[in-house]
Amino acid sequence: MPMAKPLPEGAVLGILGGGQLGRMTAIAAAELGYKVHIFAPQGDAPACDFAAATTRADYTDDDALKSFGMAIDAVTSEFENVPATVMDTLAQYVPVSPGRAALEVAQHRIAEKTLAAKIGIAVPRFAAITSAQDLASAMADMPHGAILKTCRLGYDGKGQARLAAGDDLDAAWQSLGSDDCILEERIAFSAEASFLVARTSDGQIKHFPASINHHENGILSQSRAPADPALLSDDYLKQGQDMVAALAEALELVGVLAMETFITADGLIFNEIAPRPHNSFHWTIEGTKTSQFAQLVRAVMGLPLGDTAAMGRWQMDNILGEDMAKLDAALGEEGVFVHRYGKAAAKPGRKMAHLTRKLD
Ligand SMILES: Nc1ncnc2c1ncn2[C@@H]1O[C@H](COP(=O)(O)OP(=O)(O)OP(=O)(O)O)[C@@H](O)[C@H]1O
Ligand SMILES: [Mg+2]
Repeated sequence: MPMAKPLPEGAVLGILGGGQLGRMTAIAAAELGYKVHIFAPQGDAPACDFAAATTRADYTDDDALKSFGMAIDAVTSEFENVPATVMDTLAQYVPVSPGRAALEVAQHRIAEKTLAAKIGIAVPRFAAITSAQDLASAMADMPHGAILKTCRLGYDGKGQARLAAGDDLDAAWQSLGSDDCILEERIAFSAEASFLVARTSDGQIKHFPASINHHENGILSQSRAPADPALLSDDYLKQGQDMVAALAEALELVGVLAMETFITADGLIFNEIAPRPHNSFHWTIEGTKTSQFAQLVRAVMGLPLGDTAAMGRWQMDNILGEDMAKLDAALGEEGVFVHRYGKAAAKPGRKMAHLTRKLD
């Protein structure tokens, strides 16, 4: 259902998913005068603390989806793995962001790389892997090492195996437990950069400054932004912005689209997209005039996009379950913005909070 005019104050934004991205989107929605209705399988999810209404149901529960659709004025998804058909169901009632096509593509690593390549974006060499035999023959073409990933449901480096010549490929294949995988060549990068663009239903777009990201064990650890020109030249910045805008256009995306890339001597190489707010842009809550969450709310509710100019340089550090002592220390540190996600249990590797500080 297309957006006719800006939704008025008091309108209800539905959010699929109840994690920290939904929580921070709900806070931004409240600041813009909107109410939030969370639809999530878990009732006590982080986003529910800021919701006027909550539906606890599975994404496959059609009756619950229909009631949800009738109770809201627009919907977005903070979780990219909701079944894409959910968006078709909800589109009968309200404008949806992202739409089914964007979700479907972002949910599958081969689909996203195939789309990127089709519109002229450089992607790592890759092969579809559906058997141990496929893996053995594809590895023979990747002498500099490769990464085997499940095509679906991977996040924070889960569902991945790093492989070098001579490794036990059968064991790697067994360890992933999926017959829908991708083998990608390992890219030698100088740094990783991510890009974020917002797009409205009438095709207006606005870029955010790019972030430089550092991962540990496949999990985002730190972002610094706007990207240091010594790491991401102006030419590369423009290249990345053109890439993410072309993808948003191709997906007819309404909302925000994030793109992760590798910086190499031969240009930017595409890694993956996410049709939602992205961890590497949490610094925008303090660091840009309009945060990524406020921008998403604006795009989905039919408001004009906000100013994304950065107000200085920023650093964002993730706090995982094993870092809780760092979090406690940060609470007493001057100049640190603390964002706790309200999660009950601090498990290792689980994102519990983030810290933002100004660099200059
Ligand atoms: N082809 C590659 N070459 C070199 N490094 C890679 C490659 N693919 C992934 N990596 C490294 O592993 C990290 C995580 O990979 P990827 O982004 O595919 O995983 P993910 O599980 O979807 O992560 P997230 O959801 O946290 O973004 C990348 O940011 C990068 O540091
Ligand atoms: Mg990633």
